[in-house]
Amino acid sequence: MKQINLTTSIEIFDSKEELNKEEQELIKLAKEACSKAYAPYSEFNVGAAVLLENGKIITGSNQENAAYPSGLCAERTAIFYANAQHPDTPVVSMAIIAMNKNGVLENPVAPCGACRQVLLETELRFKKAYDILLVGQSSIQKIKSSKDLLPLSFIGEGLLKSGFKKPNSEA
Ligand code: THU
Repeated sequence: MKQINLTTSIEIFDSKEELNKEEQELIKLAKEACSKAYAPYSEFNVGAAVLLENGKIITGSNQENAAYPSGLCAERTAIFYANAQHPDTPVVSMAIIAMNKNGVLENPVAPCGACRQVLLETELRFKKAYDILLVGQSSIQKIKSSKDLLPLSFIGEGLLKSGFKKPNSEA
């Protein structure tokens, strides 16, 4: 029997003033996106802002539906829109923030499993890791790669049809 121990690296900041101006702006836009959420069922608003390499910032919020599973999280709303509008442009960073009726949550909210899978695909697709900022009232967590959010991930190896290449290989 062998054992491997996986480590996840998270940088913790006490306030957004410790981050650079670009990151602070991204957080501001993610917070604004929260107010555009359609979340009448959970009353849990999530906002995401995605900075692209071309300087464009795409925002998204969770969009719920009476048929619950038909809704979509803020992260996937934002990242799918970004990839759909800018299919050749890598992501540089992303900020995620959540609010309930009392305001921004005290602690950072981490993306759900399905969103982690989609964030990872965007990293593999462009062969470029990007920063993910999880924002709470009392602290901000910075994760430098979605691989840190989703160890032992499913990367679809063997699924790609002819003409396509594995997302993270030159072969
Ligand atoms: N939600 C997100 O937008 N992102 C996540 O990573 C977790 C959950 C949304 C989905 C639903 O609209 C609400 O939060 C409650 O689960």
